[in-house]
Amino acid sequence: MQKKPVVRVAITGAAGQIAYSLIPRIASGEMLGKDQPVHIVLIDIPDSMKVVEGVVMELQDCAFPLVRGITATSDLAEGFKDVEYTLLVGAKPRSKGMERKDLLLENAKIFQTQGKALGKHAKSNNLTLVVGNPANTNALIAASNASNIDPKQFSAMTRLDHDRALAQVANKLKVPVRSLSKFAIWGNHSATQYPDLSYALVDGVQVSSKVEKTWVESEFIPTVQQRGAAIINARGSSSAASAADAAIKHMRDWSLGSNGEWVSMAVPSDGSYGIKPGVYTSYPIVCTGNGKYEIVKDLKIDAFSQNKIDLSIKELLEEKAGVSALLK
Ligand code: NAD
Ligand code: LMR
Repeated sequence: MQKKPVVRVAITGAAGQIAYSLIPRIASGEMLGKDQPVHIVLIDIPDSMKVVEGVVMELQDCAFPLVRGITATSDLAEGFKDVEYTLLVGAKPRSKGMERKDLLLENAKIFQTQGKALGKHAKSNNLTLVVGNPANTNALIAASNASNIDPKQFSAMTRLDHDRALAQVANKLKVPVRSLSKFAIWGNHSATQYPDLSYALVDGVQVSSKVEKTWVESEFIPTVQQRGAAIINARGSSSAASAADAAIKHMRDWSLGSNGEWVSMAVPSDGSYGIKPGVYTSYPIVCTGNGKYEIVKDLKIDAFSQNKIDLSIKELLEEKAGVSALLK
């Protein structure tokens, strides 16, 4: 078998808690495949580079066969040079009592600077996943500032919400998660997101025929929408291992394909389902490999779902209006 060329993978926020779970999994081949050698680029701000030094030492000590190089830097020109996969994790997390959009003003500038640098230095096929919150609007900012890169090569993470929802349904129906399909998150990675069970199947049968409507509306939807806050209340800091897990799955499916399965990711709206171009919104998506994906088409949306989707898009438009000065 022909050996694959080494690809450069950049992770920002490399000293942070998500990165600590994420980096070894990328290095072991869980994200891009066990036959894909990688050069890992760890990026953080100057004040965090001492911690990054320790992360580098641990990464070296794992002696992962796929790791062909490690770079640690706070210089974006060096960090993003020729990258093909970028995970923008570095940003401030929220604390108890905050909504994710409360982070917008503090974090938005980071994504403007990083978008510009990606446009200048990354490979033209680079795929960027935005994890730092508020993720959808940060993805919009980064993509809008990255000249020469197709906005469809940027996406924001709603895979954690997707997996949280699958876990809730699997637990309710006492089935393994793999029995479930055709589930999706719509809208913003925020408390307005809409976890949509309308088309979901359990072993080929409609989930909606097996669960009560009151459970869906009063338990399932609010639990998924508020799960990030519940974790912050319990742990004192935001989700990390599960966020890293979702980032691995998002990038894996985006680059290798989702085998016809529906996944959730926030991508540029293209007019599908009446959502006008101009925001990054989560849709039901099938990834077809090599960074390509299709929004699942022709679903009938009932009035309940439409109302929920509209509310989340309204919030995305408000967030966008708040950062208009940073958009190109
Ligand atoms: P953390 O505080 O543990 O780490 C953040 C890291 O980012 C720190 O090392 C910090 O120095 C670094 N950083 C700050 N500014 C930077 C910059 N300009 N360039 C590079 N690095 C920078 O936070 P965490 O728990 O790892 O969370 C990171 C972000 O991910 C937060 O915004 C959090 O809200 C978000 N998050 C998103 C999801 C999601 O589902 N989309 C899930 C969990 C967390
Ligand atoms: C999550 O969903 O766990 C993250 O977005 C962190 C948060 O602020 O909720």
